Amino acid sequence: MAIEAALDLLACPRCGAGLARADGALRCASGHSYDLARQGYVNLLGGSEPGNADTAAMLAARARVHATGLFAPVADEVRSRLTGRPTVLEVGSGSGYYLAHALGDDGRAGIALDVSRAAARLAARLDPRIAAVVADVWQPLPVRDACLDAVLCVFAPRNLREFARVLRPDGRLVVATPRPEHLAGLRDRHGLLRVPVDKAEQLAVAASEFFEVQATTNLLWRRERDANEAADLIAMGPNAFHRLPTDVEPGPVTVAVTVQTFTPLSSRAAR
Ligand SMILES: C[S@@+](CC[C@H](N)C(=O)[O-])C[C@H]1O[C@@H](n2cnc3c(N)ncnc32)[C@H](O)[C@@H]1O
Ligand SMILES: [Zn+2]
Repeated sequence: MAIEAALDLLACPRCGAGLARADGALRCASGHSYDLARQGYVNLLGGSEPGNADTAAMLAARARVHATGLFAPVADEVRSRLTGRPTVLEVGSGSGYYLAHALGDDGRAGIALDVSRAAARLAARLDPRIAAVVADVWQPLPVRDACLDAVLCVFAPRNLREFARVLRPDGRLVVATPRPEHLAGLRDRHGLLRVPVDKAEQLAVAASEFFEVQATTNLLWRRERDANEAADLIAMGPNAFHRLPTDVEPGPVTVAVTVQTFTPLSSRAAR
């Protein structure tokens, strides 16, 4: 089972000690215990799910979008950045689409971390190599210090201090962010939330306390979407927390995504 393969990477969220399997739960030496869900994930959240956790309906819409291949160029780019990195944590992983694609065929395993239980359920089911964990990226991550070869974050919140803590000195942080023109046609037609300008630029500045930028790639393409596909693109994102339009029309959409790779500053000190 994937959770077992990840046990030497995970840590108790309450005391930071290692976790071991005991019947239907994971336990640390101090007796903190976390039930393994029947669906194959472990809930290390220790509280209720916040309001911005993806819902089952958002996840289903995103899975349909992924099945059309619209975001395949992002998945391919991410995969190429993670080649040869045995231990990968994806944060805000949703269904685990990008992590599963990145794991490739060479027997690697990954941890999918998301604050949404519905997301963890899907990620556990998607790929037997994935250990699915429910946890909050804004809390200390339930992961041991300096044990990971890579952290991946695609369109999801980033706790840079924690990413730096869990990465090995020679590890990599790979982040995908949307650019302002991302889904622009759809946004204009339906008055959707806008992407703040310069997300990647802002990230590079915010990350500079812990990381330096190693590589940046801007991806850009356009595809025609039918009305159902366009509706799913709206329903899979943050607009689903507000109001979903009922009159979605077919039309071209632009996908504009920046993929950045960062190296920990600690790797410079170790040289
Ligand atoms: C836009 S979705 C991206 C999902 C996935 N990376 C993808 O692109 O298919 C953002 C994800 O971040 C998760 N998320 C939001 N707040 C979070 C938090 N505080 N901790 C962990 N995950 C969080 C949501 O539940 C959701 O699955
Ligand atoms: Zn503990």
